[in-house]
Amino acid sequence: MPETTAREFPPGFLFGAATAAYQIEGAAHEDGRRDSIWDVFTKVPGAVINGEDGEIACDHYHLYQDDVALMASLGLQTYRFSTSWSRVRPDGGALNPKGVDFYKRLVDELLQAGILPWLTLYHWDLPQALQDRGGWTRRETADRFTEYALDMHDALGDRVDVWTTLNEPWCSSFLGYTAGLHAPGHYSRSEGMLAAHHLLLAHGQTVRALRARDSSLDLGISLNLTVADPADPAEPADVDAARRIDGQFNRWFLDPIFRGKYPQDIFDEIADDALRAAITPGDLEVISTPIDTLGVNYYHGEFVGGSPPATPPGSGDAPTQRRGQSPFPSSENIFWHDRGLPRTPMNWEVQPEGLTRLLVRVSDEYAQPAGTSLIVTENGAAYDDEPVLEDGTIRVHDHERADYVRLHLGAILDAVEAGVDVRGYFYWSLMDNFEWAWGYATRFGIVRVDYETQERAVKDSGIQYGRIIASRILDS
Ligand code: NOJ
Repeated sequence: MPETTAREFPPGFLFGAATAAYQIEGAAHEDGRRDSIWDVFTKVPGAVINGEDGEIACDHYHLYQDDVALMASLGLQTYRFSTSWSRVRPDGGALNPKGVDFYKRLVDELLQAGILPWLTLYHWDLPQALQDRGGWTRRETADRFTEYALDMHDALGDRVDVWTTLNEPWCSSFLGYTAGLHAPGHYSRSEGMLAAHHLLLAHGQTVRALRARDSSLDLGISLNLTVADPADPAEPADVDAARRIDGQFNRWFLDPIFRGKYPQDIFDEIADDALRAAITPGDLEVISTPIDTLGVNYYHGEFVGGSPPATPPGSGDAPTQRRGQSPFPSSENIFWHDRGLPRTPMNWEVQPEGLTRLLVRVSDEYAQPAGTSLIVTENGAAYDDEPVLEDGTIRVHDHERADYVRLHLGAILDAVEAGVDVRGYFYWSLMDNFEWAWGYATRFGIVRVDYETQERAVKDSGIQYGRIIASRILDS
């Protein structure tokens, strides 16, 4: 008999699931909401697989009460969602009371169900009107963001304690403005760097503004972080490729936020005149305003070398017709290698051990010295689910996703055993939804969504997650 182990989660460890406004809400032009950059980008031919968009998505705007009931049935303790800026301030300016009202109703529903609302202010859906004026390449957008955040605080400050400024600013800047793979679909290294700087500034000044309103709020940011390993640790070119990936994914955001400076090695390599001019005195002080919680979004590691492998493992980008340039301003001689780990159908490797190393490193080097808590705000996998009808009930036997969740929860417990204080875990995603350039065929949910009928069905991975939450034990 193989040995089984039962590991207990620490007291207070929170279990949740995450979503984002554009990916689930639908009602894209209802009750005063106007175009965000994603409404516009999805219309660009070849930008999204099958030309899909978030016009209807999971129709969560209308079905939110059912969805909250579903969360309660899974036993979720917390729910991470984002508010849509273009619903609340449709042109980036004047307030739309109907838009705000939706989030009041959603939050009330969550609170009634005993679920802690974990609110993200920006999950990539900039109002198009602001993009028309230059979007994140302009400093002004950071000011508009802070005004929007304060509006949200006016509306929800009495009920929401946890506020995340931005989700994955690396994606908003470098996938959106440099690689052309995300909205607004630009291909400019310079714009990517300007966007990242103004996003960081928006984050810092919003933390300051919210803190001034209420010093008891729990304020933070969610970053997509990774572990970058050299294909051959004895090969200097491979080590250098790993350094530059780490520098551009991780340190480009962690260092300004926690240390008040850009990482010098990368800055010297990539900063252009436009970025140097955009960084005005005091910016880095604002960006490094202390935060309470750092959200870590982790899906897979990076295994890179300085020369190409015999068989390239594929890029992991959506197979759309849109091909831009590398999202990395410093991209010369960086090649992805294959280390034989299992991969999901998106070609993302499954590397739970990377999460342990990442949490230990981020805790030791950044969070702990600053007195900031860590939480995993995203982790999940898309697999080719096959729904089956059994005794009149839709079932999805998604054992690969269930394994993925157990492996990553185990990796978190390994980090906890190594002394890292991890506040909790959000599975991405509560339900199947609009996976950006990949559209709807790529399903991450622990709940299946039938997009024809909007019927929801809890997958086996969701049933398993509910059991783990109830027992607070991980069996393996
Ligand atoms: C990161 C993003 O925050 C989320 O929107 C996306 O769907 C997942 N990762 C999966 O790609």
